[in-house]
Amino acid sequence: MTAQPQQAVSIHGAWSGRLIFILAAASSAVGLGSIWKLPYIIGQNGGGAFVLVYLGCVLLLSVPLMMAEIMIGRRGRQSPVNSFAALAIEAKASSKWRWVGVLGVLTGFLILSYYSVIGGWVLAWLVKFPLGLAPAADAATAKVTLDDFFASPAEIFGWHTLFMLVVALIVMRGVERGLEQAVRILMPGLLILLVVVVAYSAMYGNFSEAVAFIFTPDFSQLTWNGVVVAMGHSFFTMSIGMGALLAYGAYMPAHQSIAVSTVWIIAIDTLVSLLAGLAMFPLVFASGLSPAEGPGLMFVTLPVVFEAMPGGIFLGGAFFLMVLFAAWGSAIGLVEPFAAWLVERGASRVRATLVLCAAAWALGIVTVLSFNILAGVQVGGRTLYELLDYVTANVLLPVGGVLLAIFAGWVMKDTRVMKELAMKNMGLYLAWRVAVRVVAPSLILVVLIVGLLG
Ligand code: TRP
Repeated sequence: MTAQPQQAVSIHGAWSGRLIFILAAASSAVGLGSIWKLPYIIGQNGGGAFVLVYLGCVLLLSVPLMMAEIMIGRRGRQSPVNSFAALAIEAKASSKWRWVGVLGVLTGFLILSYYSVIGGWVLAWLVKFPLGLAPAADAATAKVTLDDFFASPAEIFGWHTLFMLVVALIVMRGVERGLEQAVRILMPGLLILLVVVVAYSAMYGNFSEAVAFIFTPDFSQLTWNGVVVAMGHSFFTMSIGMGALLAYGAYMPAHQSIAVSTVWIIAIDTLVSLLAGLAMFPLVFASGLSPAEGPGLMFVTLPVVFEAMPGGIFLGGAFFLMVLFAAWGSAIGLVEPFAAWLVERGASRVRATLVLCAAAWALGIVTVLSFNILAGVQVGGRTLYELLDYVTANVLLPVGGVLLAIFAGWVMKDTRVMKELAMKNMGLYLAWRVAVRVVAPSLILVVLIVGLLG
């Protein structure tokens, strides 16, 4: 590192360059949400119309809110809790705004608890698939393999433990050494492999039916609940609403464009998401699987494709490795804000990380058991995992989004915000301002209220 940025840097460290910030934020965004979750919720919610709503949310909500969240972080230069607190003081507003940060770090903690369990599945397939322990000669076989796996709490728990241990090790090392090294190779490798898988899936599966399913909107298939899920996913997949990007923004170089970075991050995540859908659905339609297969979708489709390709053992291994790295990159983003807050309160980084990861690991047991022993325990027709996922992604993140939009749009001084965003195009700045002040909060509230009540 040569020149120090003029603005004070965060006590937690700083990204060593512009590209690193984008890579880090993109690796928080690109994760299980894009590759594992989006395809299965597209399937559960009827395809094209759901995708259209999701893409609309990305454009109308993700873009302005991501800018707002990064902006708050870079101006605050601290954890979400203390950045909100400091900026509230700066704007002479109520110190209660710090609770938005608290809500965020708690939401991240809840997400981490189940995220690590799913990350563990990827780890399991990375090991089992190349060894021939996850047979997937056809979709039916792959499904039996997965069902056997789900039936064993001890096994799921073991992989979950391993996944979380690595997360703790990376976050413990801190911003420069831990986070950066983990993200440098990930994104290009993942993209290349995804393209290869899509190509094979197109040859092996029913590509035209998959494309029609994903891209032809049939609004009779769309429910209000589907709209809530699509909106929730636009937050989840972009890591918006709990302070992950806020924390990463706190380590961002002072003169980097927030708008340009945002466009990059969103473009990368959207590309990966659509490729993931195109990788899986051709097989779904070719093999008679149901698109509404649910959380196991990735694990019953992709192994079949890999078994069928020459060198597929090797490619499959490489693919699960990339997904695993993507999941780790995202999990780190879930811990970092809370860890940074504890460090600001006087804990050592190592201790903060260990306590948090241990607590989320313990809570993860609920998710582990919800696929087997506690599968019958349901609230409103949802298993405990489904409930955790629903409440965090579809309610808590959007609520966090409303609050941060109001903070950036109404509480912070216009001159401050303008200076921090430093956008050259005044028209675009005004459009952003209307989006965070009016469009985003009202849209989110309408969807939530209608969706949850009716
Ligand atoms: N975006 C990640 C994914 O798609 C998950 C994630 C990481 C996340 N950090 C987050 C979701 C913060 C919400 C908030 O897999």
